Amino acid sequence: MIASPKPYQRGKCLPSSNPFQRLADLLDGVTPGRDPIIMTIGEPQNAIPDFTADVLAENMGDFRRYPPINGTPEFRQAVASWLDRRYALDGTVDADHGVLPLNGSREGLSFGAIAARDQLDKGLDHPVVILPNPFYQTYAAAAHVADAEAVLLDAVAANGFLPDLDSLDPDLLQGTVAFYIASPTNPEGHVVDIAYWQRLIELARKHRFLIFADECYSEIYRETPPPGILEAAKAMGGGFSNIIVLNSLSKRSNLAGLRCGFAAGDPDFLRKWAKFRGLAAPQVPLPAQALAVRAYQDENHVAENRRLYNEKFEAAERILGPILGPVTPEAGFFLWLDVSRWGDGVSVARALWSDIGIKVLPGGYLASDQADGGNPGRNYIRISLTAPLKQVETALDRLANWMGETA
Ligand SMILES: Cc1ncc(COP(=O)(O)O)c(C=O)c1O
Repeated sequence: MIASPKPYQRGKCLPSSNPFQRLADLLDGVTPGRDPIIMTIGEPQNAIPDFTADVLAENMGDFRRYPPINGTPEFRQAVASWLDRRYALDGTVDADHGVLPLNGSREGLSFGAIAARDQLDKGLDHPVVILPNPFYQTYAAAAHVADAEAVLLDAVAANGFLPDLDSLDPDLLQGTVAFYIASPTNPEGHVVDIAYWQRLIELARKHRFLIFADECYSEIYRETPPPGILEAAKAMGGGFSNIIVLNSLSKRSNLAGLRCGFAAGDPDFLRKWAKFRGLAAPQVPLPAQALAVRAYQDENHVAENRRLYNEKFEAAERILGPILGPVTPEAGFFLWLDVSRWGDGVSVARALWSDIGIKVLPGGYLASDQADGGNPGRNYIRISLTAPLKQVETALDRLANWMGETA
């Protein structure tokens, strides 16, 4: 294995265990100090769209049928049209060849790297998959599935929570098959701008790797819609080669249990991926695709969803701002708080549970330890603002009091 300078580290990276399991182990036997409020999981709790039951009922009979792996023409068109409207793409997404349904974006993220490795056929003994650190843990699982070496790039406050693309040496990029990156990011809620996307696309095309752009929080923003990678690619010309964007209805429409999302972008990659997926991947049930068609045609429920999250961020700013300074991220529904004044993320998470019954995730559990023993999430906790406003306010009031008393 080649030694590498910071700010990245190399090595096989088997996701050791799920962050929620690690938290369960941490809090095992610890009694909550007050009535518990759970603020760990990013599972939406706002209402599902009001047309959900009707659309499912109308399409119920189609549960009898095996769905086509590449989706119905209506599904592909609804996604292509939504992408077109959302990112002003002027019809450049080919609805027939540029869109594939997924069982939620996680399913596509998990198996994207292995498809990239096989399709690119770079003749590598040790293919590399690049991911940011901290990261959504599925990216490490994807590297593992592809039997690839995971290279973790620091995404820390000092580099604006985005990996420094110019620190990557060309040999590393030549050996890369897939680059995973989210925008908005989880956990930080940071947004990738067009210039960053374009720099990444240039590198992907030059060194022949696939970008898996995880945009599943794209609609949960404060005021300004985050730019997307397809938008950045369109402005460069050259189509969508080397780019796959993944998104779903889980966050946008509060339909996490529907397991319905899509991959869009590089038609050549998608065509070959669909062939393989036709043998190996789970299809998306036809009634779910019908619901997706309706959901992608409606922005009212999405705007309402955003409003409800933004109300909670206003509460967070009001309650925590005086202690921590600005806490509101550009997008997403998490608070990512530096708690180093009170300990590290693990000790604070434990104390919050035992002192005030608030369950939060230690930031270090969403990141990998680095070779030097550091962990870019160590000083942070992640708080999910998915609970109803009143509950969020109660939890944040308790947190603010705890911070005031414990500092
Ligand atoms: C960054 C990120 N990507 C992907 C997913 C998976 O979402 P889904 O498979 O529901 O689309 C999640 C879920 O929490 C996430 O946080």
